[in-house]
Amino acid sequence: MSPLAIFFFFFFNLSLATNTIYNVQNFGAQSNGKIDSTKAFLSAWGSACASTSASTIYVPRGNYLIRNIYFNGQTCKSNAIAIHIDGTLLAPSDYNAIDNDGSWIKFEKVNRVSIYGGIFDGQGASLWACKNSKKNCPKGTTALAFYNSNNIVMSGVTVQNSQMFHILVDGCHNAMIQGVKVLSPGNSPNTDGIHVQSSSGVSIMNSNIGTGDDCISIGPGNSNLWIEGIACGPGHGISIGSLGWESQEQGVQNVTVKMVSFTSTENGVRVKTWARPSNGFVRNVLFQHIVMSNVQNPIIIDQNYCPNHESCPNQGSGVKISDVTYEDIHGTSATEIAVKLDCSKTNPCSGITLEDVNLSYKNGRAEASCVNAGGRASGFEELSKCL
Ligand SMILES: *[C@@H]1O[C@H](CO)[C@@H](O)[C@H](O)[C@H]1NC(C)=O
Ligand SMILES: *[C@@H]1O[C@H](CO)[C@@H](O)[C@H](O)[C@H]1NC(C)=O
Repeated sequence: MSPLAIFFFFFFNLSLATNTIYNVQNFGAQSNGKIDSTKAFLSAWGSACASTSASTIYVPRGNYLIRNIYFNGQTCKSNAIAIHIDGTLLAPSDYNAIDNDGSWIKFEKVNRVSIYGGIFDGQGASLWACKNSKKNCPKGTTALAFYNSNNIVMSGVTVQNSQMFHILVDGCHNAMIQGVKVLSPGNSPNTDGIHVQSSSGVSIMNSNIGTGDDCISIGPGNSNLWIEGIACGPGHGISIGSLGWESQEQGVQNVTVKMVSFTSTENGVRVKTWARPSNGFVRNVLFQHIVMSNVQNPIIIDQNYCPNHESCPNQGSGVKISDVTYEDIHGTSATEIAVKLDCSKTNPCSGITLEDVNLSYKNGRAEASCVNAGGRASGFEELSKCL
């Protein structure tokens, strides 16, 4: 070894050796699920964050009661923080016991934070019951949120029973979400699995998502989003949108959704925009290698979204949809019309490609319906006539 190589060899080992582990129990966290451990988790974060090397926060087996918690990375010295979780983090089951308009567990302005394992349980059942009985209920919290952060990893994490969204990625660059489970009942309201907005370079891989709203929802301002190997159901499918509520809005571009199975979901792959003027767009999207089982709207573009015909009567959507490819999409539709492309009257869809799309309804082939949609389809006559 050259002297330089020896220097790097020792330097590397030294930096590994100084990866300090901060066990939350050493900061007073109690694993009985009854005593509030919020302060202990925050203290562990404070120490990990102040560490001048890479650091690890360790959460041993057990249940930890956590109220709203905010991990701010702005002044962290540590250049990488790993959070290894063998236990379960529990939100209070009484939704009035926390501030429930925002996030339960929030990371903001962090860089190179990785979460490995663990269960995050939002205990949202009482809030869902309130919402389902249409009483005047709080909005609810997102279980696990990342804001304005870079280089995030979530691996082998389970997020369940959230009051609202399960995982939120907002304003982030480079995030790898893999081997994640989202588990909530099909009748839990507003419980999107993973919502991504204003972000770039986000990958969501090999994950199982069952919930009461969208499995994955893609808001404005996303680019270079990769979604692969997802099982979705119950839920409302994978949705780009709703977009176009604002008149000035960032577009969505370069989205890949591949190797996904949808089981008894309300939608499969959807693009949804408000029927209102907007400068937004959706372009360069690929939906590929997808299996539908008993899905109500397997392929849908809905640019006339306007519940109760309020705030948009008789307006076309301003969101321009172009270059969207659907390739190798098979399986069964729960309704007669499996391909429904309902594009904007003021901004028709262009560059739609349907290739090797074969969906059946009962014992026959399902139908397609296209309005203001241009592009090409290969294969079945129903589809080529439609575009
Ligand atoms: C599209 O996004 C992927 C990551 O999802 C990236 O690898 C690729 O380079 C992007 N393509 C363009 C043209 O930006
Ligand atoms: C379309 O799907 C049906 C039902 O799965 C199948 O019987 C048929 O062979 C498929 N057609 C083509 C061209 O792939």
